[in-house]
Amino acid sequence: MMPQRESLVVIDFGSQYSRLITRRVRENQVYCEIIQHTSSWEEVSKLNPKGIILSGGPASVYDEDAPLAPAWVYDCGLPVLGICYGMQVMAHQLGGKVAPSNSREYGHSVVNQNGAGEPLFYGLPTSIPVWMSHADSITELPPGFTSKAYTDNAPVAMIKNDNNLLGIQFHPEVVHTPDGTKIINNFLHKICDFKKLWTSENFISETISNIKAQVGNGKVICALSGGVDSTVAATLVHKAIGDQLTCIFVNNGLMRKEEPERIQNTFAKYLNVNLIFSESSNRFITALKGVTDPEQKRKIIGTEFINVFDEEATRLGEVNFLTQGTLYPDVIESKTSDNTVSATIKTHHNVGGLPEHMKLELVEPLRYLFKDEVRKVGIELGLPEEMVNRQPFPGPGLAIRIMGEVTEEKLDILKAADWIVMDEIKNNNLYNDLWQSFAVLTGSKSVGVTGDFRTYGHVVAIRAVSSDDAMTADWARLPYEVLANISNRISNEVPNVNRVVFDITSKPPGTIEWE
Ligand code: XMP
Repeated sequence: MMPQRESLVVIDFGSQYSRLITRRVRENQVYCEIIQHTSSWEEVSKLNPKGIILSGGPASVYDEDAPLAPAWVYDCGLPVLGICYGMQVMAHQLGGKVAPSNSREYGHSVVNQNGAGEPLFYGLPTSIPVWMSHADSITELPPGFTSKAYTDNAPVAMIKNDNNLLGIQFHPEVVHTPDGTKIINNFLHKICDFKKLWTSENFISETISNIKAQVGNGKVICALSGGVDSTVAATLVHKAIGDQLTCIFVNNGLMRKEEPERIQNTFAKYLNVNLIFSESSNRFITALKGVTDPEQKRKIIGTEFINVFDEEATRLGEVNFLTQGTLYPDVIESKTSDNTVSATIKTHHNVGGLPEHMKLELVEPLRYLFKDEVRKVGIELGLPEEMVNRQPFPGPGLAIRIMGEVTEEKLDILKAADWIVMDEIKNNNLYNDLWQSFAVLTGSKSVGVTGDFRTYGHVVAIRAVSSDDAMTADWARLPYEVLANISNRISNEVPNVNRVVFDITSKPPGTIEWE
């Protein structure tokens, strides 16, 4: 279900910024995909490319195994922009020379144009601040190329020939190049001549017709988690095929206070979708009895989920398709990483494989979207803001926020404490600034004093982080006032808790969750 409109392809040479390039291009309303440097033209032409970007990368072009661009890049007649290593690859492959530089550049620099009128720099002054990160430099231009810009340390900071093959030594995709977005925009719209077709509206209409074509008269099921991905995926499928879709929500008893009811109400209110609400809390809590190991807890919850889902789906009779909210980063991850890495990602984000007898074809309407794009599509679909901007919540839920064994008593304590954290965060308008914010039942007990009595109660931790993608995270500097209110309220309102601590660990070295 890939969008069949025009696209820009990013050839990935292993840069940490390839994803960022893709996002910047899409922010300029052009569809963009990351492809491997080994991809064939046959594969790539299906994307209807109108321009190519060669990414940066950690290699040197003269390394023995240095990744190079496939020949079709230079033969296909499309505009090409090489960024950093991408520019060096272009120079090297087209007959120029690249060598280690005496003056490496890492960090801020200033690029000066040799002359005016470059379409790539349209609307910008002749000197602009940029972000550099390179050890090699072009020492000899390839035939037909001219140098268009320089920095104090790099005599060749931009190259170009008459066939719209361009290279820049700096990184326009990072925020430290303040005019970077304009440069990318110029490449897309002044050089490649893209139309601005990548919009939520176009995505929705195209996806709906793709779903119709894929599903035909088939029956589709979708597991709702309450999160934005499965909600938006289900909404798109429902718009396409209506009652052929049945959603299943499994209440595992491990969600936040009032969350299952909220999900049920929202779906009834905004989507007139067939929804099976499976009340299965007891099954999960019984299965978790005595289990303390975090990975074991995850496995049990995953297996139990599949069992419940399978039972509910079986009752529906013949089902042909399963809708999943897979996102583009998961797709890139599974293409580029080795098995070990993708295996761990799976235990994190998927509940595990479906049983053999459930032979279902996948419907993955969000497969080509980044999270922020999913949110925009959600808004365009008319879903409420508070649902679309929800903080992520892990599949195993509160079970991995209760250290050690999960019991009903501990769940009640954590739900009550977590409710207070959320309430204060929302009341202080901090919710949308934070990637996640929640309470943790630490598994420690401590001595306290209430009135004239000494107590021995649970220690609750407050966890709040900012992050872009959960790969790294910084602990949030919550205002003291907010922390004080949360602490007072938890120790006054939640029985058996007499101490509240604030987690000041970033990721790495910590993880966001405690288990
Ligand atoms: P960590 O704790 O690894 O979490 O820093 C990164 C992100 O993943 C979420 N997370 C999970 N999500 N199943 C999920 O669906 C899991 O087992 C799981 N563990 C962590 C976590 O909430 C954070 O957003």
